[in-house]
Amino acid sequence: MRLEGKVCLITGGGSGIGRATCELFAREGARLVIVERNEAAAKETAALCGGDTTIIVADLGKEDDIERAIATTRERFGRIDILVNNAGYGIAGSVLETSRSDWEALMNVNVTGLFLMCKGAIPIMVSGGVIVNVASVVAQVGIANRAAYCASKGAVASLTRAMAIDHVDDKIRVNAVAPGTIHSPYFDEILEKAPDPAGTLKGLQDRQLMKRLGTPEEIANAILYLAGDESSFCTGAILTVDGGMTAY
Ligand SMILES: NC(=O)c1ccc[n+]([C@@H]2O[C@H](COP(=O)([O-])OP(=O)(O)OC[C@H]3O[C@@H](n4cnc5c(N)ncnc54)[C@H](O)[C@@H]3O)[C@@H](O)[C@H]2O)c1
Repeated sequence: MRLEGKVCLITGGGSGIGRATCELFAREGARLVIVERNEAAAKETAALCGGDTTIIVADLGKEDDIERAIATTRERFGRIDILVNNAGYGIAGSVLETSRSDWEALMNVNVTGLFLMCKGAIPIMVSGGVIVNVASVVAQVGIANRAAYCASKGAVASLTRAMAIDHVDDKIRVNAVAPGTIHSPYFDEILEKAPDPAGTLKGLQDRQLMKRLGTPEEIANAILYLAGDESSFCTGAILTVDGGMTAY
């Protein structure tokens, strides 16, 4: 029960890494607040978690929704102890292939949404707190055909370090996890669009040092480490969990 009684707000808890994190946090005794735009998916997660789970249906691309999510959490619990900024998405394309509107929409969720969640949550981390951002290995190494996504995750990693410095005296630790290729529903969507899904999956597995993809649960374990007291000396860290993908 490493998170017993802690008020934990997790964005994007309806699927993949976010859902696995909610399930793990619930087992560790957290009082969960799931902020998710897909209500049905959030309800499925809440059913898996049981217990004290609050769902706030909100789009992190919308400032009003974020303000409502923070206000609702404050009214219900009076504070946030742990904020996990997990929600995010990727789009395919080089700079030349990415339209300005697609770029702005992605930055609005992956970067501005995360920034606004922190802006709202930090003032109600009344006894100190922890922020865990979900970045990606693409903050560290480039990958083909994902220009906007790589830029957004680079911004998440930089913001993580900047916030760690600014809020150390507020007793708020700010860290990020940088997953490699994780077999989540988001990844399945990418595969479905590929001309040869099975061949694409095999190719991706083969290019991993461990010859397999990661699981959402393996990332949830890293998020739990950064969220709990076991990481009490970590702030400003970007914890890579990628099966050796960036060891090459
Ligand atoms: N899957 C991977 O290989 C991988 C690798 C590195 C980093 N990541 C990052 O991990 C995070 C989670 O990814 P996942 O693979 O679990 O994805 P996923 O698509 O399975 O889950 C993302 C969840 O976030 C929600 N969401 C998306 N945009 C939202 C918005 N604007 N407002 C509210 N909710 C929103 C979705 O509804 C969904 O429930 C993302 O930030 C992603 O960039 C994923």
